[in-house]
Amino acid sequence: MQMRILVVGGGGREHALCWALARSPRVSRVYCAPGNAGIRASFECAGISPDDIDGLAEWAKREMIDLTVPGPEAPLISGIADRFAERGLKVFGPSGKAAMIEGSKSFAKELMAKVGVPTPRFEVFDDPVRARRHVSAVGCPVVIKADGLAAGKGVSVCFTPGEAMKAIEDAMERRVFGAAGSRIVVEEFVRGEEATLMAVADGDFAIPLQPARDHKRAFDGDVGPNTGGMGAYSPIPSLDREAVRDICRTIVRPVLAELLRRGTRYTGVIYAGLMLTDRGPVVLEFNARFGDPETQVVLPLLKTDLAGIVIAAVEGELPRCSVEWADGASVCVVMASAGYPGPCEKGKPITGLELLGGLPRVHVFHAGTAEGPRGETVTSGGRVLGVTATGETLAEARDRAYDAVSFVRFEGAHYRRDIASDAAGRPVH
Ligand SMILES: Nc1ncnc2c1ncn2[C@@H]1O[C@H](COP(=O)(O)OP(=O)(O)O)[C@@H](O)[C@H]1O
Ligand SMILES: [Mg+2]
Repeated sequence: MQMRILVVGGGGREHALCWALARSPRVSRVYCAPGNAGIRASFECAGISPDDIDGLAEWAKREMIDLTVPGPEAPLISGIADRFAERGLKVFGPSGKAAMIEGSKSFAKELMAKVGVPTPRFEVFDDPVRARRHVSAVGCPVVIKADGLAAGKGVSVCFTPGEAMKAIEDAMERRVFGAAGSRIVVEEFVRGEEATLMAVADGDFAIPLQPARDHKRAFDGDVGPNTGGMGAYSPIPSLDREAVRDICRTIVRPVLAELLRRGTRYTGVIYAGLMLTDRGPVVLEFNARFGDPETQVVLPLLKTDLAGIVIAAVEGELPRCSVEWADGASVCVVMASAGYPGPCEKGKPITGLELLGGLPRVHVFHAGTAEGPRGETVTSGGRVLGVTATGETLAEARDRAYDAVSFVRFEGAHYRRDIASDAAGRPVH
């Protein structure tokens, strides 16, 4: 059967998802809501917000959508999968209950503790007085995490007691993250390299995707404020295929199995944010969806049809899938607007995009782009483009991505010059 697929969201991750899903012989059309200028150039878009679940469901019914793939976490945590299911619509993504692995850090930590999945030591607090007393007792460095969704801003790594007390006050008393900070997790600080492992899951079964690493800080050398991600690369030299299989077996599947045991079947992508410590990988967090920008580097290396994997997951046939990867590596450089991750100017014309169309092994995934008054492409957000390239090695992919970046211009554009440089000299598997 030929399928009509709806991708929900409008960032670089969703552009990569649309592109990968549309390549499938099993897919007749890909739609996106709300999309962006780059997505709109190739796919029909509906002007519906990812938070308008009823609006999306009505649209999906009317357009006879066979399967919906939500990109962002907010609609998943609000129960898009449950509400679509009530109307007979299929979703590749976890139920609201299952998405709690991302929606509540204390829920995820307690789940991991229950099944012995390695994660930094932690305590959960609803009372700032007790939280302060605990932090004074354990000392620094320490990590303070708002329990709920905080748009990537809810975690403070604190090196002094002053920082830790301020983080507790901000989250629990000043409520800078709203209700998301009324409960906090106080966590042991751990050292190592960070890595992302995403897996396609259904029930207690999961197929790992290739590992990736994103670069969260705004500026070269990992300094400056945290962002949604300034770039990414895949695979990563420090995790070979066997290490990935081990993480799937000892970390991902036990968590899925415990959810299933509690009556919560997880279907969708499960994202493990890992620290590779000298005691082995430990979980810093789970997300209930594809990562952004990790998706932009992982999907271009996927040889197997993504739609086939996603359809198998929603139909309970995931164990029959085998997944193949291209050799080589992939690098994504995010071009951002001046000011990002703070407030940024919008509406700046972007030039040079047409020059990238013919470049082999280069994919430009749009994030914050829109059509200007004369039909030109203009900036419309913090992260504007994810310029991605593949190559035989990380160094080759990186050089190709930066060559492509050099063609693209918009006022105030900034991007990191060191994406994948930590690994580009090392062989990948
Ligand atoms: N226990 C920890 N030890 C050291 N660094 C941490 C720890 N937990 C989180 N971090 C750092 O903070 C970042 C954000 O934390 P994470 O749990 O991934 O939350 P979120 O992505 O929701 O902001 C991580 O990518 C990592 O750099
Ligand atoms: Mg994270």
